[in-house]
Amino acid sequence: MISVSKNSKTHEAFTCSDNFAVNMLSPGQEQMADNFAGKIPQEERFETVSYRVSVSGAPILVSASAYLDCRRWRVYDGGDHSIIIGEVVDGDVTGRLPPLVYYNRRYTTVAAAYLEAVMSPDFW
Ligand SMILES: Cc1cc2nc3c(=O)[nH]c(=O)nc-3n(C[C@H](O)[C@H](O)[C@H](O)COP(=O)(O)O)c2cc1C
Repeated sequence: MISVSKNSKTHEAFTCSDNFAVNMLSPGQEQMADNFAGKIPQEERFETVSYRVSVSGAPILVSASAYLDCRRWRVYDGGDHSIIIGEVVDGDVTGRLPPLVYYNRRYTTVAAAYLEAVMSPDFW
């Protein structure tokens, strides 16, 4: 499920497209997250990253640590947002770091998972 503001410039793309991908980033990729959150113009966002086209036709970021590839299933009115439910057609965990999390107006991560990853003998 993704929820997109009706004021977002990407609202039409998400609500009209037959597919979308959820790319999960990791600590160290805050700039990339900010770029996709609106820091740079929409048409430049995919120029700054490498990506491949998924089974459904959606873009999967090469450096994402996990992804969900979805076909649009339903779109619900959520007031000032549209709630878009996807049917997951593919997905994988391709990195070793835990997810980048936005919490209390800043980026952080899941502490236990982060420690587990960096304390693992083969991480470094
Ligand atoms: C970490 C992060 C996550 C966000 N997630 C969402 C989201 O799920 N849906 C949404 O509508 N806006 C979200 N936003 C807010 C949008 O990024 C913001 O409204 C931005 O101005 C949209 O830019 P655009 O219209 O150029 O795409 C998020 C912002 C940040 C920093």
